[in-house]
Amino acid sequence: MNYLKNIKRSVFWKFILLYIIKPIYDFVWTYIINIHAKIMLISWKPKNKDYFNLNMNNQLIIRDDERISNVANELSKICTEDFLNKSREEMKTNSQYSQELFDKLDNNTKEKIINFASSELIINTVARYLGVFPVLSRIYFYHNIPNPNGEDEVKAQKWHKDGMGYKGLDFFISVTDIDLNNGPLFFLKKNNPLGSFSRIENALLNPVRGERNKISNEEFIKIYNKSNIDSIVGPKGTCVIVDSYNCYHKGGYLLKGDRIMLRIAFDTIDSTVLNFDEEKYKSDSIFYYNKKHISSVNNKFLKFLHYKRSSFIKFFRISQKLLRFYQLLHFKIGSRNEQQ
Ligand SMILES: [Fe+2]
Repeated sequence: MNYLKNIKRSVFWKFILLYIIKPIYDFVWTYIINIHAKIMLISWKPKNKDYFNLNMNNQLIIRDDERISNVANELSKICTEDFLNKSREEMKTNSQYSQELFDKLDNNTKEKIINFASSELIINTVARYLGVFPVLSRIYFYHNIPNPNGEDEVKAQKWHKDGMGYKGLDFFISVTDIDLNNGPLFFLKKNNPLGSFSRIENALLNPVRGERNKISNEEFIKIYNKSNIDSIVGPKGTCVIVDSYNCYHKGGYLLKGDRIMLRIAFDTIDSTVLNFDEEKYKSDSIFYYNKKHISSVNNKFLKFLHYKRSSFIKFFRISQKLLRFYQLLHFKIGSRNEQQ
């Protein structure tokens, strides 16, 4: 077993993955698993050809973009002191430091967010990155406060990749100004071309619930120095686009103040989030917003974007099997084999 582990730490294995296994799997992922989404993309002819260019990287920070600032300003108007006070009290009562408020927004605002998430600008950006037409999987409106229990950095606040799919793209848009006190999102700027086929080896020992495969700050900075790390620090309307399945990131740790953030997530039919949502979020309108709208969505692209699921993948638990396949082949990143 140790012999196998050593191979998976070796530069030799890294090259086999990078130049043989990954290109083959990329082809299978695009032209077999996601063939429907590929055909959709080929027939997608948007009027507006604009997009945010990730340049083959799995993250991008956008500052001062009017279209994004408009969304952030609109949302910040809704976050009145009353609205936030109510949310703060609820969190304190439940000993939480984070709450999801999308459902509490009025229908008009929800509609605006969904329209933005379904706009050609956003679809073009995601489709270009994924190489196939995306599925809009989740929209979250997070409110975070300092942990009322005074605990140290917890769960999402430690370095990790979200192990729920092969490729996806999340838009994080700050609705409050963000500095180092109110918990910026941090992400690794250094591109990781192996993405889902790699994992940092020394995860937390004895992880508590939600900490599996998470990496302590101390371990992380042994591998990547500070110049490789960026954050969403900046005025409201700053946006980080990140493939959270491929790029190491961590939620910020709030020392004081509030943080409000819109998160719009895009996936493909093989991401587990598209399958576990039905059971877990049966009555949750974040995933099934506008259900009544289904019959009225006659645009085939919108229908795909909002509602595409694969019963075949779900029935045979293909998503879970694929995740195990990536894990099996993982290149193990450590301070010895990753240059800073
Ligand atoms: Fe995450």
